[in-house]
Amino acid sequence: MSIKNRTIFENDNLFVLRGMDSESIDLIYLDPPFNSNRNYAAPIGSQAAGAAFKDTWTLSDVDNAWHGEIADREPALYQAIHTAELTHGKGMKSYLIMMAIRLLEMKRVLKKSGSLYLHCDPTASHYLKLLMDAVFGRRNFRNEIIWRRNSGNNAGKQYGRNHDTLLYYAASNQATWNGSVADNYSPEQRSRFKTDPAGNLYKAENLTAPGVTPSRSFEWRGAVPRNRSWRYNKEKLEELWEAGLILTKRDGKTPRLDGLKTYLGPDDRPKVQSIWTDIHRVANTSKERTGYPTQKPIALLERIIKASSNKADVVLDPFCGCATTCVAAERLGRQWIGIDISEKAVDLVRMRLEKEVGLFGTVIHRTDIPKRSEKLPNYRTHKHTLYGKQEGLCNGCQTQFPFRNMTVDHIIPRNHGGTDAVDNLQLLCGACNSTKSTGTQAELLAKLQEQGIL
Ligand SMILES: C[S@@+](CC[C@H](N)C(=O)[O-])C[C@H]1O[C@@H](n2cnc3c(N)ncnc32)[C@H](O)[C@@H]1O
Repeated sequence: MSIKNRTIFENDNLFVLRGMDSESIDLIYLDPPFNSNRNYAAPIGSQAAGAAFKDTWTLSDVDNAWHGEIADREPALYQAIHTAELTHGKGMKSYLIMMAIRLLEMKRVLKKSGSLYLHCDPTASHYLKLLMDAVFGRRNFRNEIIWRRNSGNNAGKQYGRNHDTLLYYAASNQATWNGSVADNYSPEQRSRFKTDPAGNLYKAENLTAPGVTPSRSFEWRGAVPRNRSWRYNKEKLEELWEAGLILTKRDGKTPRLDGLKTYLGPDDRPKVQSIWTDIHRVANTSKERTGYPTQKPIALLERIIKASSNKADVVLDPFCGCATTCVAAERLGRQWIGIDISEKAVDLVRMRLEKEVGLFGTVIHRTDIPKRSEKLPNYRTHKHTLYGKQEGLCNGCQTQFPFRNMTVDHIIPRNHGGTDAVDNLQLLCGACNSTKSTGTQAELLAKLQEQGIL
């Protein structure tokens, strides 16, 4: 691919993604605007001062051709967006179209062994999951990760909203998975262990095994297993005793039959599950803090990168903000590409990579659009644009139809002097198109009224 390691694109990620080769990326993490209906700005005086991005969406933010392209490439995806419009309105629809058109490209650039983590929150996570199921296939859904950002807040007449959601999908069943990393013990798990004077955790296990084996049924230091046998021979028991690994009864000298002290090693710690409570948001006083709005903690990205990529793999963050993903990828020996539309984000990325990982002068800043080595599809046909302009509705009967069931019609028929210009084109369903035939639009509408359809 024409994109080098450590490249930051300052551009709209849709255009950059469209310029990237298919199956060239190993891992994508994206933390897009969440449709929070807020606009974000960094505090004056912070490193990030000047950085801002909006998170309110209307249909004017959406290119008409995107509707058609989504409906053309993934009909189920467009249906999911339509459902969200019915339940939530045009703002959500616009946001989801903005996301869907990009998710289609992200899926295309991901290798078969790749994975994608979409960071969002409950404002839109339920709709985004439908979109992801349509783009990646529901069988490639792996986890809905709940990340507890903070301990809570006073939320009025509802429970405090203190978590984000990460939707984790694999590109296929060949996706890289290095296993979940070891977690810390929860307080209730800890309560099942004892702590020795040096602070190490241990639990007591049975020194005996079921069944009576004659060679293991001896008396040892005043203790005899009843209807059971020692798990070890006398020599091994003595060894354990000398090593201080056997607990005694109150008398301090008779071994307890359930007294085998078993220390917990790092590998015995439980694996991280889908609820993450041990990574804290970037606090105001944190060393990591740049002031960039919605900055995510490096530890969060490190966990994801370790689990779902290998050394030298290419990690992409198409909404990279102040480069948290790039810093984490660099630290872990992965290659990375970041994209952000904001000029300020790019400055910060540079600064942060120089400061945190000592990458002086090695970050490549690009404002162009990369060139794909494969042939580009036609993203913008008249039919795509018209589908968006009409929001998927037939211009005759006003019913929604899938893209493939729509036909392009000349509003003023060619035999009446109508041209092929897009202003003279509309989409009709098959039935309306044959009703209109070579007639005018007014004639079509009159016929539909006569038939009681309008
Ligand atoms: C939630 S922030 C990402 C924060 C980031 N994870 C971090 O830790 O700093 C979303 C970012 O997406 C960027 N953005 C929004 N729309 C974009 C687009 N179409 N193309 C590229 N970047 C975009 C914004 O400038 C903003 O920096």
